Amino acid sequence: MDTKTSHLLLSLLFLFFILSSSTAALSLPPAEQEAAYTILETINPSFNWRDLYPDDLCISAPHGLLCDFFPSSNSNHITELNFGYFSDYTSNPTCNFTSTNSTSLFALFSSFTFLKKLFFFNCFTSLSSYTALPPNLFSLLPSTLEDLVLLNNPSLSGEFEMDASSLPLKRLVISGTAISGEIPLLPSTIRQLVLSRNSIYGQIPPSISRCTNLNILDLSYNRLTGSMPDQLTQLVNLIKLDLSFNRINGRIPDTISGLKNLEMLDLSFNQLTGGIPTGMGEMVGLKEVYLSWNRIGGQIPEIWEKMGDNLVGIGFSGLGLIGNIPASMGIYLRKLCFLALDNNLLEGPVPVQFRRLESTASEVNLEKNQLHGLVPFSADFVVRLGSKLKLGGNRGLCQVGPTGSEKKGSLEMLPACNATEVPRPVVISTGEENGCSGNGRVVLWGLVLLLGLLVV
Ligand SMILES: *[C@@H]1O[C@H](CO)[C@@H](O)[C@H](O)[C@H]1NC(C)=O
Ligand SMILES: *[C@@H]1O[C@H](CO)[C@@H](O)[C@H](O)[C@H]1NC(C)=O
Ligand SMILES: *[C@@H]1O[C@H](CO)[C@@H](O)[C@H](O)[C@H]1NC(C)=O
Repeated sequence: MDTKTSHLLLSLLFLFFILSSSTAALSLPPAEQEAAYTILETINPSFNWRDLYPDDLCISAPHGLLCDFFPSSNSNHITELNFGYFSDYTSNPTCNFTSTNSTSLFALFSSFTFLKKLFFFNCFTSLSSYTALPPNLFSLLPSTLEDLVLLNNPSLSGEFEMDASSLPLKRLVISGTAISGEIPLLPSTIRQLVLSRNSIYGQIPPSISRCTNLNILDLSYNRLTGSMPDQLTQLVNLIKLDLSFNRINGRIPDTISGLKNLEMLDLSFNQLTGGIPTGMGEMVGLKEVYLSWNRIGGQIPEIWEKMGDNLVGIGFSGLGLIGNIPASMGIYLRKLCFLALDNNLLEGPVPVQFRRLESTASEVNLEKNQLHGLVPFSADFVVRLGSKLKLGGNRGLCQVGPTGSEKKGSLEMLPACNATEVPRPVVISTGEENGCSGNGRVVLWGLVLLLGLLVV
């Protein structure tokens, strides 16, 4: 044995000694190790987890089980448990949980007194039976839990426990389940609350105002009723507010203008009334606003001046809006990509200022209104947007010049404008202000003839 080899062997021995002594000191408490095995066996009995991972689970564990060292107890503890195959990069243990009663499963998590995150994806998916959530779910979970995610678990049923405020939750995501019940009382630590795609009913509780750290509030696709409480508008740190696809009624509170950091507001598919609040014009950070399919009514307010720097999407379909489309939308909305004003009762022309939207817009839907007059968009824009420009169902809208094959997209369907609707290139009276008819081309030819006569 040469000196090089023996040196290497010595170093390896030293390393082994270091590792084994440190693991002895840092080992996972046996109660946590045992609870982890039991949970893995409960969630997916088709693997022999004890044989697959015989060592300390903080050293070798299935993906999704994470530990941390805690000097206070001078040992490792499990801090994260993630279940359900998510992707090749996060290949958590797959689930095959078929029992109808999950109480004993969730009770096992109380063994992890340092657990911060619990994540279930696609774990309760049985087509034949539901798994009931324990009625006391939040009391069963460890009092250290900050992050609870139950995503895409369609056969998870039962009702929420009404009080989750004893947990130091920062993120609560329960989405895509059959869970019902009312929105529970939440701790003020919470930053993200996503309870979308469940069967939650009742009203948004005024107590939501204590959650002043909320950035994301998504309660979409539920059965919520009642009105939007004013307290909702005290959540000044909200960036995203999504209440779409519920049965919320009443007015949008004018105090919504207090949500100064809001970037995304989606209230579409509810039963809101009372007009678009002018206070919205103060929400200068708003990037997307979707109110479509409510009974909001009224006119489109003049609120666009301060909103133009950020607004990229506006969904105002099917709101019962009346009156004209404000020209200010064309003037100020410098970044607009998506605009839907379809299925309203809007009348008057499409403002010529809408020509300015051409540099940014990629989808414009004005169909099924009572608009009339010349469409202000250029032929290039019409071709570029194709079917993403919708103008049909407005009996009075028309276009200049040739119809049919020369212009593509939605303009194909529009008739050519009558003379009075085409802006005149030069102000020369033809003596036929009223009652002139024919299409734009006839008027232009008339002007050319007239000019010819003047020159001669
Ligand atoms: C799930 O478990 C059942 C028995 O409980 C078994 O019949 C089935 O094959 C398992 N499915 C998978 C995908 O492992
Ligand atoms: C579910 O199991 C727990 C104990 O494991 C039991 O106390 C409870 O009654 C069960 N619930 C139902 C609905 O069977
Ligand atoms: C153009 O005028 C004719 C007859 O004057 C009328 O029937 C038609 O509706 C008008 N078209 C438009 C687009 O206003």
